[in-house]
Amino acid sequence: MPDNRKSPIEITKDEFKKIGYQLIDTISHFIDTIDEKPVTTGDTPKQIQAVLGNASLPEQSTSVSELFAKTTDLLFNHSLLNGHPKFFGYITSSPTPIGALADLLAATVNPNVGANILSPMATAIERQTVKWLAEFIGVSTSCGGILVSGGNMANLTAFLAARTAKAPKSMKEEGLANMHSEMVFYCSKATHTWIEKAAVLFGHGTKAIRWIPTDADNKMNIDILSQTINNDVKTGKQPFLVIGNAGDVSTGVVDDLSAIAAICKAHDLWFHIDGAYGIPASVIPKYKNLFDGINEADSIALDPHKWLYAPLEAGCTLVKNPQYLVDTYSSHPVYYNFSNQDDEPAVNFYEYGFQNSRGFRALKVWTALQQVGKNGYIQMIGEDIALSQLLFDEAKKHPELEAVTQNLSITTLRYIPVGFAQDEKKNETYLNTLNEKLLNELQQGGEVFLSNAVVGDKYCLRCCIVNFRTSRKDILEIVDIIVGEGRKIHKTLQIVPPVVDLKNS
Ligand SMILES: Cc1ncc(COP(=O)(O)O)c(C=O)c1O
Repeated sequence: MPDNRKSPIEITKDEFKKIGYQLIDTISHFIDTIDEKPVTTGDTPKQIQAVLGNASLPEQSTSVSELFAKTTDLLFNHSLLNGHPKFFGYITSSPTPIGALADLLAATVNPNVGANILSPMATAIERQTVKWLAEFIGVSTSCGGILVSGGNMANLTAFLAARTAKAPKSMKEEGLANMHSEMVFYCSKATHTWIEKAAVLFGHGTKAIRWIPTDADNKMNIDILSQTINNDVKTGKQPFLVIGNAGDVSTGVVDDLSAIAAICKAHDLWFHIDGAYGIPASVIPKYKNLFDGINEADSIALDPHKWLYAPLEAGCTLVKNPQYLVDTYSSHPVYYNFSNQDDEPAVNFYEYGFQNSRGFRALKVWTALQQVGKNGYIQMIGEDIALSQLLFDEAKKHPELEAVTQNLSITTLRYIPVGFAQDEKKNETYLNTLNEKLLNELQQGGEVFLSNAVVGDKYCLRCCIVNFRTSRKDILEIVDIIVGEGRKIHKTLQIVPPVVDLKNS
């Protein structure tokens, strides 16, 4: 081994600058012209595989500049572009450009934000990010928390803190199977699938979930919640957790959080809010009342990679008393030497969640919060909501569209061909088939990307705007795109006059 080792993976300063500048040039052009590209090329996995090729593992080195030229081409020309102004699918945002720069910086310094000693500045920045997120949504900054990969993890992380808080202390050693009473928990039917994952993975089983029906406006029915808890108590179960939605995944409805909080208080239950999507809207003065009750929550999940526009991945769990996170996740193996000499004990984030080694995902959130400030976010979130309302109004006006729901920045609507009365039950099956086909065509077509929601019995197109690039023009254009495509599909289905659904007639 020579005195000066030459590693094949090192890149010289000059080379790094050259390739780095080229990459930044290519990225800037990509961002600047993203609206000229299709949202997706709609390639099948087979077509993608053909483009990628099927080479076996390389044995020899490749030039880095060639590698990046090839890789940018693969990604820029064969990806679904959620940074496109007409991307409204699921709940993924356009990514902030500053987030891309922050990720580069984070990867360069590469702090391991599992322990303070391994990441002194990054740990402090993550702590500040958590505090700012609490401040942003208007809850006490004395709460603690941790950044995680997204909404699933933010909710799962909180779920276990809730269980630690409410289960007998013996549970850690004895396990759930040896508990005297079955632990059960409550959420509305509109709750995201993470709750099933929690029930299965953490040993409760899905039967421990009490699915509370929603009322006409899709909020959790508070009377049924109360009755269900009372019944469980009577039959010897141990209720421990109620989950309220602050922006449900399908239609963006915010539950009556104050009412849920009051029930939790009366029964000494943990109150968790899944605000992964919607809770940033509490920053808008006009919408603040909608979120009354968030200060009563024991924990909140929110996702900077949704409505704070952070590039994937960034979720956050906030906990009123962060000691419950430490009681859940902390361990002190002999091979960790993370105790500090300072007066104030260091925060070691490995004690707050699932991960030990942790990346610096806080940086992209922390930088964006400063780039635009709270006011910048008030503007962008407010505009997203206004655009969603515009789409709803345009759909309402259009004779071939039915505007179905509008909450926060989610609008659901469907295409109704001329001559099909919206409320005729007999046409429902046909309209559902038509709209499902329409969604598939739109998702493949590349002009706009929407997702779906089932509202009552109606299969709807769902447009979720968490996109700072979308403007009024895009909304007006997508109305035409939807109607144009809807007409084509209706024609190909060749249903004239409307088919009668025998089941419902
Ligand atoms: C309300 C809600 N909770 C949880 C999640 C899951 O988030 P993620 O996909 O980041 O895990 C979503 C995703 O859309 C959501 O809308």
